[in-house]
Order: sequence, then C-alpha cells, then structure tokens
Amino acid sequence: MKNNYNIGVFDSGVGGTTVLKEIIKLLPHENILYYGDSGNSPYGEKTTEEIQQLSRKIVYFFTSQNCKVVVIACNTATAAALHCLQKEFDIPILGVITAGAKTAVKTTENNQINILSTPFTALSKAYTREIRKLSESIEVYQEGCPQFCPMIEKGWETFENREQILKEHIEKLPKDSDTLILGCTHYPMIRSDIEKYFKGNIVDPAKETAKELKELLITKTMLNPSSYPGKILFYVSGDTEKFKEIAEKFLNFKIKYLFKVKK
Ligand code: DGL
Repeated sequence: MKNNYNIGVFDSGVGGTTVLKEIIKLLPHENILYYGDSGNSPYGEKTTEEIQQLSRKIVYFFTSQNCKVVVIACNTATAAALHCLQKEFDIPILGVITAGAKTAVKTTENNQINILSTPFTALSKAYTREIRKLSESIEVYQEGCPQFCPMIEKGWETFENREQILKEHIEKLPKDSDTLILGCTHYPMIRSDIEKYFKGNIVDPAKETAKELKELLITKTMLNPSSYPGKILFYVSGDTEKFKEIAEKFLNFKIKYLFKVKK
C-alpha cells in the first residue's frame, strides 16, 4: 500500500460531499475519489441486502483504483453495510455513525438527543446502539424523513413545500432535546432551513469523521507526504450535470474531473 494511493469516499449521491469538504480541509494533500451513486439513490428506502450489494460494488471499484482507505460518507450505507464490508475487504473502512454519536454525546447537556435521518437509518437503530455504547442514560429519538434526500438530489430550492415538510418532521421531535444529529449526509446542505425550526445544538458528523480518518492515516503511517493539493476525482452514476451544479455550490470550487459510471 503506497502513501500516495487514494482515499475512496462514497454516498448514494451528492450528500457525501458534506463529508468530503471536511476531509479536504483536514487532509489537503490527499488524492480522493468521490463516488456519488445517484443513479441508485435513494438508498434510504432499499433493503439491507440491496444497500450492501451497491456498497460492495463501489468498494470493489475503489480497490481496483488504488485506494488505501474507504470512507462511507452515507449514514444509511454505514448502518447497512459497514460491518460486512469491513469483514470482506482488506483496506480500512470508516463510517459516519460512530463519529456522529461521539460528537452528540459530547454536546448534549440534558442527555436527550434527536436524530433526523432516512427511514432506513432510523429503523436500523444504529445511532441508538452507538450512543448507548458511550452512555446508558441518554434518551434518543429518531425521525425518518423519506422526502429529504430525493428533494436535495433534485434541487432543494425548487420545492415550494420544502419548509412545510421540514417543519412537519421537526415538530414530531421531542421538544426537550437540546441536540439534533443530522443523521443523513445530505442534511448539512439544508442546515440553514433546519436551524429555523430547531433551536438547540446541531451535530454534523462530518468533522469528526474527517478527524477519525486523519488519525487512522497517521496511525497506519499512510499520510500522503506530498506538499501539493491533492487531486479530487468524481464518479457519478446518475445525472452528472445536476450533481455538478449542487456539489460545486456546496463545495465552493469547480469540479475538474467528473466521470459518468454505470449504475
Ligand atoms: N446521504 C445518505 C445518508 O447519509 C442518504 C441516503 C439515501 O440515499 O437515502 O443516509
């Protein structure tokens, strides 16, 4: 395994760019392959087996493209596939849920945490399990939001009823909780709208995930020693133009290398 090998980052679409952005900030010299599987999104309404199969295909792709580590920048794929992929592949694989749980437990002062996520992540109880490992006494409430991810993929601003839908979901959350985890990597893109209806602490697992990745690369002596900015290549299985438009706006830079891949 060479230090200048790539970091593979994937999501069901454009949402994982919220994690990518933090990784680039913390590890600017790393070469990164970002895979947005928008041709198969949303993952949040698929079965465990389907999500595992899609994720496996992407990790195979990464291993064929000289990746030294993989980040599952998707809560749904982390909940469904992290443990099985870690068993199947030799390279280290990180998810986002442990990082989100850790940050939220550190953040809450009244031991009540709300989570907004895809229906799959909510039903999987993956966050509750991770939070319980860190603290027995925390109350967790999870709300599955089937509409958000497809709306963000298509262009959040184009939906006139977006605030109404958002409000309806947030109103279902217990009012006493002081902390809300954005339990889907698409949601940091609509953070300013979420903040209108939730006034407590908002946790985005992306920063902590990037920190965990950096620590892992240091521990395994796999950091890229280059002093030049790393190359970021994008692979997208759905509408590449839409992906480019939304990702560039969020990342705040122009995408140079974008390849269409089969879904
Ligand atoms: N960004 C993915 C997540 O974090 C969205 C999954 C989906 O496609 O439904 O869960």
